[in-house]
Amino acid sequence: MLTQLQLRNFRCFESLALELDAGFTFFIGGNGEGKTSILEAACVLLRLQSQRTSTLSPLVRVGAKAFAVRGRFDEHALEFSYGGLHRRLKFDDVDQRTATEYLRLARVVSFANVDIELVRGGSDARRRYLDFLGTQIEPTYRSTLRAYERALRSRNALLKSATPRTREIAAYDAPLIENGTRLRDMRATIVDRLAPFVRQAHHEISVTTEKIDIYFSPGAAEDFAKDLAESREKELRLRQTVVGPHRDDVDLFVDGMPANSFASEGQQRTLALALKIAQARVFAASGSSPLLLIDDIFGELDPDRRNALLRSLPNESQKLVTATSLQWRKDFAEGHVFELQDRQLHLR
Ligand SMILES: Nc1ncnc2c1ncn2[C@@H]1O[C@H](COP(=O)(O)OP(=O)(O)OP(=O)(O)O)[C@@H](O)[C@H]1O
Ligand SMILES: [Mg+2]
Repeated sequence: MLTQLQLRNFRCFESLALELDAGFTFFIGGNGEGKTSILEAACVLLRLQSQRTSTLSPLVRVGAKAFAVRGRFDEHALEFSYGGLHRRLKFDDVDQRTATEYLRLARVVSFANVDIELVRGGSDARRRYLDFLGTQIEPTYRSTLRAYERALRSRNALLKSATPRTREIAAYDAPLIENGTRLRDMRATIVDRLAPFVRQAHHEISVTTEKIDIYFSPGAAEDFAKDLAESREKELRLRQTVVGPHRDDVDLFVDGMPANSFASEGQQRTLALALKIAQARVFAASGSSPLLLIDDIFGELDPDRRNALLRSLPNESQKLVTATSLQWRKDFAEGHVFELQDRQLHLR
Protein backbone atom coordinates (compact mmCIF):
# COMPACT_ATOMS: atom_id res chain seq x y z
CA MET A 1 0.00 0.00 0.00
CA LEU A 2 1.04 3.57 -0.73
CA THR A 3 1.54 5.41 2.55
CA GLN A 4 3.30 8.60 1.46
CA LEU A 5 3.27 10.66 -1.68
CA GLN A 6 5.26 13.80 -2.47
CA LEU A 7 5.12 15.90 -5.62
CA ARG A 8 7.56 18.52 -6.79
CA ASN A 9 6.96 20.62 -9.93
CA PHE A 10 4.42 18.07 -11.02
CA ARG A 11 1.63 19.51 -13.25
CA CYS A 12 0.04 22.36 -11.26
CA PHE A 13 1.84 21.59 -7.98
CA GLU A 14 5.08 23.23 -7.00
CA SER A 15 5.20 21.14 -3.89
CA LEU A 16 2.70 18.86 -2.17
CA ALA A 17 3.00 16.07 0.39
CA LEU A 18 0.38 13.72 1.76
CA GLU A 19 0.00 10.61 3.87
CA LEU A 20 -2.34 7.84 2.86
CA ASP A 21 -4.17 4.99 4.55
CA ALA A 22 -5.59 1.65 3.49
CA GLY A 23 -9.09 1.53 2.02
CA PHE A 24 -10.62 4.69 0.60
CA THR A 25 -9.11 8.16 0.34
CA PHE A 26 -11.26 10.83 -1.32
CA PHE A 27 -10.01 13.98 -3.03
CA ILE A 28 -12.67 16.62 -3.45
CA GLY A 29 -12.35 19.90 -5.29
CA GLY A 30 -13.65 22.02 -8.13
CA ASN A 31 -12.53 21.68 -11.73
CA GLY A 32 -8.85 22.39 -12.24
CA GLU A 33 -7.94 22.17 -8.55
CA GLY A 34 -5.51 19.30 -9.17
CA LYS A 35 -7.41 16.09 -8.35
CA THR A 36 -6.37 14.21 -11.47
CA SER A 37 -2.80 15.44 -11.01
CA ILE A 38 -2.53 13.75 -7.60
CA LEU A 39 -3.72 10.41 -8.98
CA GLU A 40 -1.39 10.80 -11.92
CA ALA A 41 1.54 11.43 -9.58
CA ALA A 42 0.74 8.18 -7.76
CA CYS A 43 0.62 6.31 -11.07
CA VAL A 44 3.87 7.83 -12.31
CA LEU A 45 5.60 7.08 -9.01
CA LEU A 46 4.56 3.43 -8.99
CA ARG A 47 4.57 2.60 -12.70
CA LEU A 48 6.82 5.28 -14.29
CA GLN A 49 4.05 6.06 -16.72
CA SER A 50 0.90 8.11 -16.73
CA GLN A 51 -2.51 6.52 -16.87
CA ARG A 52 -3.53 9.33 -19.26
CA THR A 53 -0.73 10.20 -21.63
CA SER A 54 2.03 8.25 -23.29
CA THR A 55 4.70 10.90 -22.71
CA LEU A 56 5.84 12.36 -19.43
CA SER A 57 7.03 15.78 -20.58
CA PRO A 58 3.60 17.49 -20.23
CA LEU A 59 3.70 16.60 -16.54
CA VAL A 60 6.62 18.92 -15.80
CA ARG A 61 5.20 22.08 -14.23
CA VAL A 62 5.24 24.98 -16.68
CA GLY A 63 8.39 26.99 -16.01
CA ALA A 64 10.24 24.13 -14.28
CA LYS A 65 12.89 21.88 -15.82
CA ALA A 66 11.97 18.62 -14.13
CA PHE A 67 9.44 17.01 -11.85
CA ALA A 68 10.04 14.65 -8.96
CA VAL A 69 7.69 12.21 -7.27
CA ARG A 70 8.59 10.45 -4.08
CA GLY A 71 6.80 8.05 -1.80
CA ARG A 72 6.64 4.97 0.32
CA PHE A 73 5.02 1.76 -0.78
CA ASP A 74 4.93 -1.07 1.76
CA GLU A 75 8.34 -0.86 3.39
CA HIS A 76 10.07 0.69 0.40
CA ALA A 77 11.08 4.21 -0.55
CA LEU A 78 10.57 5.17 -4.18
CA GLU A 79 11.78 8.24 -6.01
CA PHE A 80 11.54 9.22 -9.65
CA SER A 81 12.59 12.46 -11.24
CA TYR A 82 12.14 13.34 -14.86
CA GLY A 83 13.17 16.25 -17.03
CA GLY A 84 13.32 15.23 -20.68
CA LEU A 85 16.69 13.52 -21.11
CA HIS A 86 17.27 13.51 -17.38
CA ARG A 87 15.66 10.57 -15.59
CA ARG A 88 16.57 9.32 -12.19
CA LEU A 89 15.22 6.35 -10.29
CA LYS A 90 15.86 5.51 -6.69
CA PHE A 91 14.71 2.40 -4.89
CA ASP A 92 15.31 2.46 -1.14
CA ASP A 93 17.61 5.44 -1.70
CA VAL A 94 19.81 3.54 -4.13
CA ASP A 95 20.13 4.78 -7.72
CA GLN A 96 18.76 2.28 -10.21
CA ARG A 97 20.21 1.71 -13.66
CA THR A 98 17.17 -0.23 -14.84
CA ALA A 99 13.53 -0.11 -13.80
CA THR A 100 13.18 -3.86 -13.31
CA GLU A 101 13.38 -4.08 -9.53
CA TYR A 102 11.56 -0.79 -9.04
CA LEU A 103 8.60 -1.86 -11.17
CA ARG A 104 8.28 -5.18 -9.43
CA LEU A 105 6.88 -3.47 -6.34
CA ALA A 106 3.39 -2.14 -7.08
CA ARG A 107 0.41 -2.59 -9.35
CA VAL A 108 -2.02 0.12 -10.45
CA VAL A 109 -5.42 0.12 -12.12
CA SER A 110 -6.90 3.42 -13.22
CA PHE A 111 -10.56 4.21 -13.75
CA ALA A 112 -11.56 7.36 -15.59
CA ASN A 113 -14.32 8.80 -17.71
CA VAL A 114 -12.30 8.28 -20.88
CA ASP A 115 -12.46 4.52 -20.27
CA ILE A 116 -15.54 4.43 -22.48
CA GLU A 117 -13.08 4.82 -25.37
CA LEU A 118 -12.00 1.27 -24.61
CA VAL A 119 -15.34 0.18 -25.96
CA ARG A 120 -16.25 2.74 -28.58
CA GLY A 121 -12.86 4.14 -29.60
CA GLY A 122 -10.11 2.89 -31.90
CA SER A 123 -7.97 -0.17 -31.33
CA ASP A 124 -5.03 1.75 -29.84
CA ALA A 125 -7.00 2.30 -26.62
CA ARG A 126 -7.51 -1.45 -26.30
CA ARG A 127 -3.86 -2.21 -27.04
CA ARG A 128 -2.86 0.29 -24.36
CA TYR A 129 -5.24 -1.43 -21.95
CA LEU A 130 -3.56 -4.79 -22.64
CA ASP A 131 -0.10 -3.24 -22.42
CA PHE A 132 -0.86 -1.52 -19.11
CA LEU A 133 -1.79 -4.91 -17.68
CA GLY A 134 0.92 -6.85 -19.52
CA THR A 135 3.79 -4.68 -18.34
CA GLN A 136 2.61 -5.22 -14.76
CA ILE A 137 2.16 -8.98 -14.74
CA GLU A 138 4.66 -10.28 -17.28
CA PRO A 139 8.32 -9.45 -16.56
CA THR A 140 9.41 -9.61 -20.22
CA TYR A 141 6.40 -7.74 -21.63
CA ARG A 142 7.88 -4.26 -21.48
CA SER A 143 11.17 -5.16 -23.14
CA THR A 144 9.42 -7.20 -25.84
CA LEU A 145 7.00 -4.36 -26.58
CA ARG A 146 9.85 -1.84 -26.75
CA ALA A 147 11.91 -4.08 -29.04
CA TYR A 148 8.93 -4.63 -31.33
CA GLU A 149 8.17 -0.91 -31.50
CA ARG A 150 11.82 -0.12 -32.27
CA ALA A 151 11.92 -2.59 -35.15
CA LEU A 152 8.57 -1.32 -36.42
CA ARG A 153 9.67 2.32 -36.32
CA SER A 154 12.90 1.62 -38.20
CA ARG A 155 11.11 -0.47 -40.78
CA ASN A 156 8.41 2.13 -41.34
CA ALA A 157 10.98 4.90 -41.67
CA LEU A 158 12.71 2.90 -44.43
CA LEU A 159 9.39 2.17 -46.14
CA LYS A 160 8.66 5.89 -46.18
CA SER A 161 11.97 6.86 -47.76
CA ALA A 162 11.99 8.05 -51.38
CA THR A 163 13.50 4.82 -52.70
CA PRO A 164 12.85 2.02 -50.20
CA ARG A 165 15.56 -0.64 -50.33
CA THR A 166 14.17 -4.10 -49.75
CA ARG A 167 17.36 -5.47 -48.30
CA GLU A 168 17.60 -2.78 -45.64
CA ILE A 169 13.94 -3.27 -44.74
CA ALA A 170 14.40 -7.03 -44.49
CA ALA A 171 17.13 -6.50 -41.89
CA TYR A 172 14.38 -5.56 -39.43
CA ASP A 173 12.18 -8.54 -40.25
CA ALA A 174 13.85 -10.88 -37.76
CA PRO A 175 13.44 -8.67 -34.65
CA LEU A 176 9.96 -7.68 -35.80
CA ILE A 177 8.86 -11.30 -36.18
CA GLU A 178 10.57 -12.57 -33.06
CA ASN A 179 9.26 -9.87 -30.72
CA GLY A 180 5.95 -9.56 -32.54
CA THR A 181 5.20 -13.25 -32.12
CA ARG A 182 6.07 -13.12 -28.44
CA LEU A 183 3.99 -9.99 -27.90
CA ARG A 184 1.00 -11.48 -29.72
CA ASP A 185 1.18 -14.64 -27.58
CA MET A 186 1.39 -12.65 -24.35
CA ARG A 187 -1.56 -10.47 -25.36
CA ALA A 188 -3.64 -13.50 -26.32
CA THR A 189 -2.95 -15.06 -22.91
CA ILE A 190 -3.91 -11.82 -21.16
CA VAL A 191 -7.26 -11.68 -22.95
CA ASP A 192 -7.89 -15.32 -21.96
CA ARG A 193 -7.16 -14.47 -18.34
CA LEU A 194 -9.35 -11.37 -18.44
CA ALA A 195 -12.38 -12.88 -20.13
CA PRO A 196 -14.01 -14.70 -17.18
CA PHE A 197 -13.40 -11.70 -14.88
CA VAL A 198 -14.93 -9.29 -17.41
CA ARG A 199 -18.06 -11.42 -17.65
CA GLN A 200 -18.28 -11.77 -13.87
CA ALA A 201 -17.71 -8.07 -13.15
CA HIS A 202 -20.18 -7.09 -15.82
CA HIS A 203 -22.76 -9.39 -14.32
CA GLU A 204 -22.26 -7.78 -10.91
CA ILE A 205 -22.51 -4.14 -11.93
CA SER A 206 -25.12 -4.26 -14.65
CA VAL A 207 -28.74 -4.76 -13.75
CA THR A 208 -29.42 -6.89 -16.82
CA THR A 209 -28.47 -10.40 -17.96
CA GLU A 210 -26.60 -9.29 -21.07
CA LYS A 211 -24.05 -11.72 -22.37
CA ILE A 212 -20.55 -10.38 -22.84
CA ASP A 213 -18.00 -11.85 -25.24
CA ILE A 214 -14.41 -10.77 -25.49
CA TYR A 215 -11.91 -12.10 -28.04
CA PHE A 216 -8.35 -11.30 -28.95
CA SER A 217 -8.08 -10.28 -32.59
CA PRO A 218 -4.45 -10.54 -33.73
CA GLY A 219 -3.07 -8.06 -36.26
CA ALA A 220 -1.23 -10.78 -38.18
CA ALA A 221 -1.93 -14.36 -39.22
CA GLU A 222 -0.82 -17.23 -36.98
CA ASP A 223 2.39 -17.48 -39.05
CA PHE A 224 3.57 -13.88 -38.73
CA ALA A 225 6.70 -14.44 -40.87
CA LYS A 226 4.65 -15.79 -43.77
CA ASP A 227 2.05 -13.04 -43.43
CA LEU A 228 4.79 -10.41 -43.47
CA ALA A 229 6.46 -11.92 -46.53
CA GLU A 230 3.13 -12.01 -48.34
CA SER A 231 2.34 -8.39 -47.57
CA ARG A 232 5.55 -6.98 -49.09
CA GLU A 233 3.84 -5.54 -52.15
CA LYS A 234 1.13 -3.87 -50.10
CA GLU A 235 3.76 -2.47 -47.73
CA LEU A 236 5.62 -0.80 -50.55
CA ARG A 237 2.38 0.64 -51.86
CA LEU A 238 1.18 1.94 -48.48
CA ARG A 239 4.71 2.73 -47.26
CA GLN A 240 4.22 1.11 -43.88
CA THR A 241 4.22 -2.27 -42.16
CA VAL A 242 0.68 -3.54 -42.64
CA VAL A 243 0.57 -6.67 -40.47
CA GLY A 244 1.69 -7.25 -36.89
CA PRO A 245 0.80 -6.59 -33.25
CA HIS A 246 0.49 -2.86 -33.91
CA ARG A 247 -2.79 -3.94 -35.52
CA ASP A 248 -3.90 -6.18 -32.63
CA ASP A 249 -7.33 -5.56 -31.21
CA VAL A 250 -9.80 -6.87 -28.66
CA ASP A 251 -13.29 -7.57 -29.99
CA LEU A 252 -16.12 -6.90 -27.58
CA PHE A 253 -19.70 -8.06 -27.95
CA VAL A 254 -22.85 -7.41 -25.95
CA ASP A 255 -25.47 -10.07 -26.62
CA GLY A 256 -23.66 -11.06 -29.78
CA MET A 257 -23.55 -7.53 -31.23
CA PRO A 258 -20.32 -5.51 -31.60
CA ALA A 259 -20.19 -3.25 -28.56
CA ASN A 260 -18.61 -0.29 -30.35
CA SER A 261 -21.40 0.20 -32.85
CA PHE A 262 -24.49 -1.35 -31.25
CA ALA A 263 -24.28 -0.90 -27.49
CA SER A 264 -25.92 2.12 -25.87
CA GLU A 265 -23.81 4.67 -24.03
CA GLY A 266 -24.82 3.19 -20.68
CA GLN A 267 -23.98 -0.32 -21.88
CA GLN A 268 -20.63 0.89 -23.16
CA ARG A 269 -19.84 2.56 -19.82
CA THR A 270 -20.78 -0.55 -17.88
CA LEU A 271 -18.62 -2.73 -20.11
CA ALA A 272 -15.68 -0.32 -19.81
CA LEU A 273 -16.01 -0.43 -16.04
CA ALA A 274 -16.15 -4.24 -16.12
CA LEU A 275 -12.95 -4.27 -18.19
CA LYS A 276 -11.20 -2.22 -15.50
CA ILE A 277 -12.54 -4.20 -12.55
CA ALA A 278 -11.41 -7.34 -14.41
CA GLN A 279 -7.92 -5.86 -14.64
CA ALA A 280 -7.89 -5.39 -10.87
CA ARG A 281 -9.06 -8.96 -10.32
CA VAL A 282 -6.41 -10.43 -12.60
CA PHE A 283 -3.82 -8.76 -10.35
CA ALA A 284 -5.56 -9.91 -7.19
CA ALA A 285 -5.66 -13.47 -8.57
CA SER A 286 -1.91 -13.30 -9.18
CA GLY A 287 -1.34 -12.35 -5.57
CA SER A 288 -1.02 -8.56 -5.50
CA SER A 289 -3.91 -6.19 -4.92
CA PRO A 290 -3.49 -3.13 -7.12
CA LEU A 291 -3.79 0.48 -6.06
CA LEU A 292 -7.01 1.73 -7.65
CA LEU A 293 -7.05 5.27 -9.04
CA ILE A 294 -10.64 6.29 -9.56
CA ASP A 295 -10.90 9.61 -11.31
CA ASP A 296 -14.26 11.31 -11.40
CA ILE A 297 -16.24 8.42 -12.83
CA PHE A 298 -19.32 9.18 -10.76
CA GLY A 299 -20.57 12.17 -12.72
CA GLU A 300 -22.43 10.08 -15.26
CA LEU A 301 -24.16 7.83 -12.76
CA ASP A 302 -27.24 8.36 -10.64
CA PRO A 303 -26.66 8.43 -6.84
CA ASP A 304 -27.76 4.80 -6.32
CA ARG A 305 -25.33 3.55 -8.91
CA ARG A 306 -22.56 5.72 -7.47
CA ASN A 307 -23.01 4.11 -4.07
CA ALA A 308 -23.33 0.63 -5.58
CA LEU A 309 -20.12 1.21 -7.49
CA LEU A 310 -18.24 2.34 -4.37
CA ARG A 311 -19.32 -0.84 -2.64
CA SER A 312 -18.46 -3.10 -5.59
CA LEU A 313 -14.81 -2.02 -5.64
CA PRO A 314 -12.43 -4.73 -4.43
CA ASN A 315 -12.26 -4.65 -0.65
CA GLU A 316 -8.61 -5.53 -0.29
CA SER A 317 -7.37 -2.76 -2.62
CA GLN A 318 -6.30 0.70 -1.57
CA LYS A 319 -8.43 3.26 -3.41
CA LEU A 320 -7.79 6.91 -4.29
CA VAL A 321 -11.02 8.47 -5.46
CA THR A 322 -11.67 11.94 -6.88
CA ALA A 323 -14.99 13.75 -7.20
CA THR A 324 -16.20 17.32 -7.35
CA SER A 325 -18.42 16.64 -4.35
CA LEU A 326 -19.43 13.79 -2.06
CA GLN A 327 -22.93 14.92 -1.19
CA TRP A 328 -24.33 11.80 -2.82
CA ARG A 329 -22.59 9.41 -0.41
CA LYS A 330 -25.17 7.35 1.51
CA ASP A 331 -24.32 5.34 4.65
CA PHE A 332 -20.76 5.23 3.48
CA ALA A 333 -18.48 6.88 5.99
CA GLU A 334 -15.30 4.99 5.15
CA GLY A 335 -12.07 6.77 4.30
CA HIS A 336 -10.38 10.13 4.75
CA VAL A 337 -11.59 13.07 2.72
CA PHE A 338 -9.13 15.67 1.47
CA GLU A 339 -10.36 18.95 0.07
CA LEU A 340 -8.26 20.70 -2.54
CA GLN A 341 -8.22 24.45 -2.67
CA ASP A 342 -5.61 26.84 -4.04
CA ARG A 343 -3.17 23.95 -4.54
CA GLN A 344 -3.42 23.01 -0.83
CA LEU A 345 -4.90 19.91 0.75
CA HIS A 346 -7.16 20.15 3.77
CA LEU A 347 -8.25 17.08 5.67
CA ARG A 348 -11.97 17.26 6.27
N1 LIG B 1 2.50 21.01 -16.78
C1 LIG B 1 1.65 21.80 -16.11
N2 LIG B 1 2.09 22.94 -15.50
C2 LIG B 1 1.26 23.74 -14.82
N3 LIG B 1 -0.06 23.50 -14.68
C3 LIG B 1 -0.56 22.42 -15.27
C4 LIG B 1 0.25 21.50 -16.00
N4 LIG B 1 -0.53 20.51 -16.46
C5 LIG B 1 -1.77 20.79 -16.03
N5 LIG B 1 -1.81 21.91 -15.31
C6 LIG B 1 -2.96 22.54 -14.65
O1 LIG B 1 -3.23 21.82 -13.49
C7 LIG B 1 -4.54 22.12 -13.07
C8 LIG B 1 -5.16 20.92 -12.39
O2 LIG B 1 -5.43 19.94 -13.35
P1 LIG B 1 -6.16 18.59 -12.95
O3 LIG B 1 -6.43 17.86 -14.21
O4 LIG B 1 -5.38 17.89 -11.91
O5 LIG B 1 -7.50 19.17 -12.32
P2 LIG B 1 -8.76 18.41 -11.74
O6 LIG B 1 -8.95 18.81 -10.32
O7 LIG B 1 -8.66 16.96 -12.02
O8 LIG B 1 -9.94 19.06 -12.60
P3 LIG B 1 -11.28 18.41 -13.22
O9 LIG B 1 -12.30 18.38 -12.12
O10 LIG B 1 -11.65 19.40 -14.27
O11 LIG B 1 -10.94 17.08 -13.78
C9 LIG B 1 -5.26 22.62 -14.29
O12 LIG B 1 -5.60 23.96 -14.09
C10 LIG B 1 -4.26 22.47 -15.40
O13 LIG B 1 -4.35 23.47 -16.35
MG1 LIG C 1 -9.69 15.69 -13.31
